[in-house]
Amino acid sequence: MDLSKLKADLKKDFNSSSSSIDLQNLKVKYLGKKGKITNLSKKLSTFEKKHRPKVGKKINELKLLFNELNDKTSLKIEKKELEIEISKDQVDVSLPVDTSQRGGLHPITRTIEKISSYFLTKGYLIEDGPEIESEYYNFDALNIPQDHPARDMHDTFYLSTGDLLRTHTSPVQIHALEKYEMPLKILCPGKVYRSDSDPTHTPMFHQIEGLVIDKNVNFGNLKKELVDFLNYFFGKDLKVRFRPSYFPFTEPSAEVDIMDQKGWLEIMGCGMVHPNVLKMSGIDYKKYSGFAFGLGIERMAKLDYSISDMRILFENDLKAISGKK
Ligand code: DAH
Repeated sequence: MDLSKLKADLKKDFNSSSSSIDLQNLKVKYLGKKGKITNLSKKLSTFEKKHRPKVGKKINELKLLFNELNDKTSLKIEKKELEIEISKDQVDVSLPVDTSQRGGLHPITRTIEKISSYFLTKGYLIEDGPEIESEYYNFDALNIPQDHPARDMHDTFYLSTGDLLRTHTSPVQIHALEKYEMPLKILCPGKVYRSDSDPTHTPMFHQIEGLVIDKNVNFGNLKKELVDFLNYFFGKDLKVRFRPSYFPFTEPSAEVDIMDQKGWLEIMGCGMVHPNVLKMSGIDYKKYSGFAFGLGIERMAKLDYSISDMRILFENDLKAISGKK
């Protein structure tokens, strides 16, 4: 039995192994049931008694050597295998991004987008305005003086500073009249607040305000603009009716109704901008005239998505607000 040859083979085998599978095979080859070192141990009894301790010691040394080489090589192999794994896992930052949309937009957001995108094509500017307003913008400048009964109808949330949460999007008309040169076409979607809560009212809701100011704008222009819009929104030729109404900031004023299975349904308020409103914001009301309109977005979303109770829109029931029609 050439022990030194066995030792040399062992070293050579470990040197040439390059995977954890190779290492497992070496364990079988040397220490398995019929392994080379195992066989040696089995043969120990065939040696003369006086040689046995020496041979036994050599066999032990071989086992130790095996373990030592095994530990060292497996460390090396593990490191190498890990590096390969890591290099396979690298992220290619130049790959195109997955832009597929997950989740869905809330019906209110979709309705705002549907209405805004229509008026954008008609040349309107989308305007934003503050939700905290002064009494001046929310009421006075809209021709609603201090003791006007219309103020009571608005169920206003007042702040301790004397300001208030806007009760409608109409104050954005005033900001726009102050900010821009005429002519003007704006659309303002946004949140409004009223101290009111029942199946058809929530304390916060959304409106869209429209304002058009130019030379020679008349009620016919207003009618055409709104009838065209309603036909677009509901995707069919609707029966539309303009019913005389009253708003302090328009003269004349009208309420727009559409015909639905159940009869006439009130959809929005509108009218010709009151000269007082133009005057207060420093616009020459002899040169310019205009129309305005305001509609409730929840009402439009309810009709578009067949939702019966408006509170559903704010209760986070994903099924109800998933946007499926
Ligand atoms: N601001 C009114 C409201 O909240 C809605 C409205 C009516 C807006 C007529 C207008 C309009 O611009 O012309 O009830």
